[in-house]
Amino acid sequence: MGSELNSTDPMRLKIAVQKNGRLTDSSLDLLSRCGLKYSRGKDQLMCYGENMPLDVLFVRDDDIPDLVQEDVCDLGLVGLNVVQEKRLAFAARAIAPLFETVQLLDFGRCKLCIAVPDGFDYRGAQSLQGKRIATTYPHIVGRFLADHGIAAEVVVLSGSVEIAPRLGRADLICDLVSTGSTLAANHLRHAETVLDSQAVLIRTPVPIAPEKQEWTRRLLMRIDGVEQVKGSKYIMLHAPRSALPAIAKLLPGSEAPTVIPLEGRGDRVAVHAVCRENVFWETLEELKGVGATSVLVLPVEKMLA
Ligand code: PRP
Ligand code: ZN
Repeated sequence: MGSELNSTDPMRLKIAVQKNGRLTDSSLDLLSRCGLKYSRGKDQLMCYGENMPLDVLFVRDDDIPDLVQEDVCDLGLVGLNVVQEKRLAFAARAIAPLFETVQLLDFGRCKLCIAVPDGFDYRGAQSLQGKRIATTYPHIVGRFLADHGIAAEVVVLSGSVEIAPRLGRADLICDLVSTGSTLAANHLRHAETVLDSQAVLIRTPVPIAPEKQEWTRRLLMRIDGVEQVKGSKYIMLHAPRSALPAIAKLLPGSEAPTVIPLEGRGDRVAVHAVCRENVFWETLEELKGVGATSVLVLPVEKMLA
């Protein structure tokens, strides 16, 4: 009861996330890694941040840009596919999109693809001339067709696009593909990628109330920190001092490694560095090749620039 009242508190930040779909788990994981503690009841549409003045709203992904645009939510975690479609839809109605993309996030990767029935002889965009294309992304498809100078009919559906060709409603489709199993199950195959998508953080450009600014700043900084450490590793090794230039070249995305002399070990030093990219076995083998020993690679839990 109490939390219900507090949840509509205008002093609390609101972030919209996908209610049920490919982005939901990773979105909540991101917020947890930012330190948010919340309780989510089954079928609950909003959950109350217990240790931050931040509430999470669970909505359809297609509604997220509108909620941010209308300033109902301050922030949103949504796919680039939805953002792009919404931008083009607003542009078509001469509405200036108010939501801003803050940053790309390292999850929810998928592709918006043209897919054709098994027997369809696809030979590039010109094969779409005069065809009927079923999609829930009419504006992105329209832009793609215009870019290629193709006249085709866009059949706008709200879901279950994959069965449109079998039902005779369209000749082919344009839809999201991640594993490709939905395509395969519907006897369709990938023909062309129209958009590479991943999750993005969007925000309202309407000035955030002064009372909420401090937490907005902190949350955005934490999200950025979480994103930065995702691929990052902390690497420690021993090596001859003379090998330092070669080692610096091999360490992926590291800035200014720390070099520590090793007591009583001649010219051997310990090198500690944060690598902004994953460190693969090949790199470790190459490090060994230039004289490194005792190589340790550790995950980075938190990072604050
Ligand atoms: C997409 C798309 C397909 C499915 C493809 O739907 O419409 O149904 O994912 O995924 P696959 O290649 O792994 O089989 P999504 O779950 O994103 O829902 P929405 O488009 O209705 O938001
Ligand atoms: Zn959707």
